Amino acid sequence: MSEELFEPHNIIVTGGCGFIGSNFVRWVAENHPECHVTVLDKLTYAGNPDNIAGLPESQVELVVGDVCDAALLDRLVPGHDAIVHYAAESHNDNSILDPEPFVQTNVVGTYRLLQAARKHDVRYHHISTDEVYGDLALDEPRRFRPDDPYKPSSPYSSTKASSDLLVRAWHRTYGVRATISNCSNNYGPYQHVEKFIPRQITSILCGIRPKLYGDGRNVRDWIHTEDHSRAVWDILTKGHMGETYLIGADGEKDNIHVLQAILERMGQPADAFDWVRDRPGHDRRYAIDPTKLETELGWKPIHTDFSEGLDQTVEWYRSHEDWWRPAKEATEKKYAAQGQ
Ligand SMILES: NC(=O)c1ccc[n+]([C@@H]2O[C@H](COP(=O)([O-])OP(=O)(O)OC[C@H]3O[C@@H](n4cnc5c(N)ncnc54)[C@H](O)[C@@H]3O)[C@@H](O)[C@H]2O)c1
Repeated sequence: MSEELFEPHNIIVTGGCGFIGSNFVRWVAENHPECHVTVLDKLTYAGNPDNIAGLPESQVELVVGDVCDAALLDRLVPGHDAIVHYAAESHNDNSILDPEPFVQTNVVGTYRLLQAARKHDVRYHHISTDEVYGDLALDEPRRFRPDDPYKPSSPYSSTKASSDLLVRAWHRTYGVRATISNCSNNYGPYQHVEKFIPRQITSILCGIRPKLYGDGRNVRDWIHTEDHSRAVWDILTKGHMGETYLIGADGEKDNIHVLQAILERMGQPADAFDWVRDRPGHDRRYAIDPTKLETELGWKPIHTDFSEGLDQTVEWYRSHEDWWRPAKEATEKKYAAQGQ
């Protein structure tokens, strides 16, 4: 079913110092030593060069810069054979407070990268989110499918939806060799402490009571970030041009279940948390139908035991306090100012 196999040798990974991008870079370094990686990252509050420290210098190079910088892209892109675009402003709560950087990086940045991919005839893979599809009711049997209509709820998801539409148009109009993947919520090492799972784990480690939004029944479809990386590589190398693939690992769990699982493995009572006011416009449930990815490209998740993945993640944060501690205080201050 697949088109000709694409064998990348020299790729640009934007946002490769963030959570998911750095996990992808580490995965490529380990599994595809024949592929050189140029990480292009602006090093915002969410980017940390330590996330890719220790990788062979001959294989992984960091260029500090902005995906919106057309002149930089014009210098950087020639000589590479693919761009894998992870860079984004990625946190919903931040997008509600200040949408401007979201429009800039997520929309304008994607536009600039597409123009560069077009000009230099480079394969382009676009990383996106299932949040572009809006949300589902808790009792709805349906899961998101690639051709579902876009109904983003937040400033974050609407900028991601906008960027996806640019990719579709640049493929159709200009023939850019592009694919898109929309993935569900990731967990694993190197995730910023502002995000749900690391926030809860690091709060408990700091002796702060975890906070839970709304009624705690919002459902997220969790996937281990390594499974996301494997899927992106499969799409990059075997995907059909112009296609959208949904990445998910049948990991639906409500927030209260996840928080109580964290409390339990960290020796805390199940009710040792505080309720806080809900995020405005909070999506109720996400759920991915990954059939297309599984049947067309043969991908399957390997981290199918959420409990085991959570144990490893808790352990990672326990043993990497130096990594998360510098961001913790500022993050909690920001949440406290919003009553969350
Ligand atoms: N976190 C999730 O669960 C999830 C799920 C599905 C899809 N995604 C998508 O995956 C991608 C990565 O998400 P993440 O959670 O790793 O994000 P993150 O916030 O941890 O990392 C984002 C990275 O992008 C960099 N960056 C931001 N603006 C930039 C710019 N203008 N130029 C260059 N670099 C810039 C940051 O410095 C950082 O290293 C995003 O596109 C996001 O929409 C995330």
